[in-house]
Amino acid sequence: MALLENPLGHPEKFHISKDLGFILEDPLEELPDCYQVWVRLAKNLPSLIQNGQFREEVKQLPELNISQLQGHKEQRLAHLALAVITMGYVWQDSEVMQVLPRKIAVPFCEISKQLGLPPIMVYADCVLANWKKKDPSGPMTYENMDTLFAFPGGDCSKGFFLVSLLVEKAAASAIGVIPDIFEAIKSKNVESLKESLRTVASSVHKAIEVFDLVHKHVNPNVFFDTLRIYLSGWKNNPLLPNGLIYEGVWETPKMFCGGSAAQSSIMQCFDALLGIQHSSAEEKTSAKFLEEMRNYMPSSHKDFLEAVTSSPSVRDFIISSDDIKLKKDYNECVKALVHLRSYHLQVVAKYIINQSNKQDNAKEKKSSDNQEKGTGGTNLMTFLKTVRNTTEKALLKES
Ligand code: HEM
Repeated sequence: MALLENPLGHPEKFHISKDLGFILEDPLEELPDCYQVWVRLAKNLPSLIQNGQFREEVKQLPELNISQLQGHKEQRLAHLALAVITMGYVWQDSEVMQVLPRKIAVPFCEISKQLGLPPIMVYADCVLANWKKKDPSGPMTYENMDTLFAFPGGDCSKGFFLVSLLVEKAAASAIGVIPDIFEAIKSKNVESLKESLRTVASSVHKAIEVFDLVHKHVNPNVFFDTLRIYLSGWKNNPLLPNGLIYEGVWETPKMFCGGSAAQSSIMQCFDALLGIQHSSAEEKTSAKFLEEMRNYMPSSHKDFLEAVTSSPSVRDFIISSDDIKLKKDYNECVKALVHLRSYHLQVVAKYIINQSNKQDNAKEKKSSDNQEKGTGGTNLMTFLKTVRNTTEKALLKES
C-alpha cells in the first residue's frame, strides 16, 4: 500500500506536521463557551492548590457531556484541561484521592476514547499540546513561548514542558526525510539514502544541544520535591496501590502510568526507522514498557509508528549493501541516539537519583538507584541503561 511505503505521504492523517513532527501545531487556547469552566479551573490550578481549594472548586463543576466538542484540536485541549484537573484533584495534598468524581471522570473517559488515549495526563497533553507563542509572529524560542497550563513550583513546569517541546522540535526535522528514506530504498538510490541519514543524525545532535536548556530552566529541587507528584500515575504506585476509581465509568479502580517523555513518539520513531529492537529476552521488561507507552500516545501517532515499523527494513537494506560509507552514515545515526540516551541518563541522575539520595541522607536512610521509580513507574536507571545499551548494540561493523 502506498501509505505504508511512504508514511508521511498523508501527514495530516496522522496529525503530524512537516515542521513540528508530533507537536500539535498552534494548539487552541479556548474551548466553546460551555466548556470554558474546565479551561479556567485548570488555569487557576497553582493558586487554588496553594490555598487548598482546588478540590472544592472541582466539586462545583457542572456535569457536561462532550457532544458539542468538534475537531481534533478541541478534543486535545479538552483532554489536556481535564487531565490537569484530574492530576490536581488526586494529588492536591498528602491525603490522596482514590475516587475521581463523575463530573470529571465521565467526560474525561469519553474524550480519551475518541483520541485513543488513557484518562490520565500524558506527554501528548502537557508537552505536545500545552504551548503558545507570546508574539504569534515571532519564533518558537523559549523566550517567546509559554505553557497554557502550569503546576505548583513556579516556573518549573514551564521549564520542564517547554524544554521537552523544544527537544522534540529539534528532533522533528528528521521526520521530513522519512518518506525520502523509503523512496531511496525502493529505488535503490544509495546516495539519496546517505543524505537522508545525515539529516537524521544532525537532527538528533541538534536535539542534544537543545536538551542543555534543561539545566537553565528546571530547578532539580523544585522538580523533585514539587512538580514530580503531579506527573505521577496510579500504576505501580504505593500511594494508590489499587489504582483510581473513575466514578460513573467503571465499577473497579483502574491503573494508569503517569506522564513521562517515554511517551514521546519521536525516539520510538527513530528506533523503528533504524531497526533498533528492544525485544531480546534480557530486555523484556524494558521492551514491554516501551511498547506499553505506545498506548499513551494519540492513536494517530501510534499508527504512524506502526506504519514505519511495517515498512521495508532500512537496517536490512544497509546490511546487505557493501557500501562502507552507507554503513558509516547509518552508524552515525545510531551513535547520535546512544549519545542522546547517555545524556538523558545524566539528566535523570541529576534530577531524580541525586535528589532522592539527598533526601535519604537527610533521613539517614539507604537506598539503591534501582529502587527509584520514574513517573511512568519504571525502575528507572536499570530501564534507561538497558535501552541505551540495546541502541549501542545496533551499530554495524564498518568493514
Ligand atoms: C528533567 C528532565 C527529564 C527527566 C527527569 C526525565 C526522566 C525520565 C525517566 C524517569 C524515564 C523513565 C520512564 C519513567 O518511568 O518515567 C524517562 C524516559 C524517557 N525519557 Fe526522559 N526525562 C527528562 C527529559 C526528557 C526529555 C526532554 C526527553 C525528550 C523529549 C526525554 C525522553 C525520554 C524517553 C524517550 C524515554 C524512554 C526511554 C528511551 O527511549 O530512551 N526525557 N525519562
